[in-house]
Amino acid sequence: MINLRSVYVAALGASCAVFAFGAQAAEVSLFCSSSGVELELCQSAAEAWAKETGNTVKINKMPANWGDALPIYQQLLASKSSDADVLSLDNIWVGALAPHLVNLKDKVPAEEIDAHFKSALADATVNDQLLAMPWYIDAGLMFYRKDLLEKYGKPVPTTWQELTDTAAFIQDKERAGGKADMWGHVWQGRAYEGLTCDALEWVASNGGGTFVDAKGDITANNPNAAAALTLARSWIGKISPEGVLNYDEEGARGVFETGNSVFMRNWSYAWGTSQADNSPLKGKVGVTALPVGKAGEKSSGCYGAGLLGVSKYSKDVDAAVSLVRYLTGAKEQKRRAMSAYSPTIEALYSDPEILKSYSFLTDVSKAYADSASRPSQATGGSYNRVSQRIFNGVHNVLSGKETAEDSLAKIAADLERLKKRGW
Ligand code: GLC
Repeated sequence: MINLRSVYVAALGASCAVFAFGAQAAEVSLFCSSSGVELELCQSAAEAWAKETGNTVKINKMPANWGDALPIYQQLLASKSSDADVLSLDNIWVGALAPHLVNLKDKVPAEEIDAHFKSALADATVNDQLLAMPWYIDAGLMFYRKDLLEKYGKPVPTTWQELTDTAAFIQDKERAGGKADMWGHVWQGRAYEGLTCDALEWVASNGGGTFVDAKGDITANNPNAAAALTLARSWIGKISPEGVLNYDEEGARGVFETGNSVFMRNWSYAWGTSQADNSPLKGKVGVTALPVGKAGEKSSGCYGAGLLGVSKYSKDVDAAVSLVRYLTGAKEQKRRAMSAYSPTIEALYSDPEILKSYSFLTDVSKAYADSASRPSQATGGSYNRVSQRIFNGVHNVLSGKETAEDSLAKIAADLERLKKRGW
């Protein structure tokens, strides 16, 4: 059993004892990201819902690394705990949590469901049941210092090799000019889910597949994958600090947004933060699809999406569904778009106000179109173990413990064993 007291819990919103029509006001618990803009957006929207409906929201903070939330959810749901009403979900978890989530098809009006992209609804659908509502979509993106590329007359790189060369060139010039802390490229190298994403991007964009393909066949061990990981290994200590081996999204963002890196791989939220009024990089950043390993390949930014689901063990499913509808509705998705969270409601992509303040959507539409999915559908409830095997193996390559070839052979053998036990 999870002791929820150990999780920071904050009571929010008006707490009226009784509704106008005599119905008891509900207290709904909601899991939000642990910090930063994600927490702020989640918390303020929940407060607005509470005020509008007269209910109360209890915010449970998720662990700093999203991947650590899945086992917490699994424990809470396995014990049928009513402490979890609304869950923030990564698209890769819906399969694993499916037996515990309410089918929203009977709870949300059809026209409200149909307003979302079909692909986003597909993430939320298992055996024809709609187990979550889409909240935002995302893909790995390349951020770059527009001002520095201009200063040195370098084009925006379109291949990883070009990025490697440009990063080294500008980093060395800037250091020689007195910026001792300058690096070429920062990304997510810690052994966690984020590294599975980064590795998938290097490998898939080099024609090396996605470790496990859509049919569930294991494709990890191949020369294109090995070449991609070997190039990434060569960055450590050269264009990427040793510390990148322990960076998550926020670690990379910290270095980039203090002006100490030419390039950064991150999700779209980093556009919002780097262009905020108080950011030293306002106006100096460009964003585009990630490079490719080889001509002819797709840029393959890792596809990531946020969804909201309702626990079957909630004491007040209707109130929980009402909160989910509020958070995933057009008004709230529009507000989030202003902080660079890409909507899942199709009509918002032609909303003039969004397009004006969020013109970056046009720059990244190719990245979204060419994104690559992690093998979570094919590996179902075993996805977390599959991903752990991938990120641990890749981390061994990056830290110089194993060659890419040896590591990929071991990853493939371990995945075969996992698959034999059934996934
Ligand atoms: C982001 C993505 C999610 C991914 C995670 C990895 O939160 O939306 O899909 O699993 O990053 O760190």
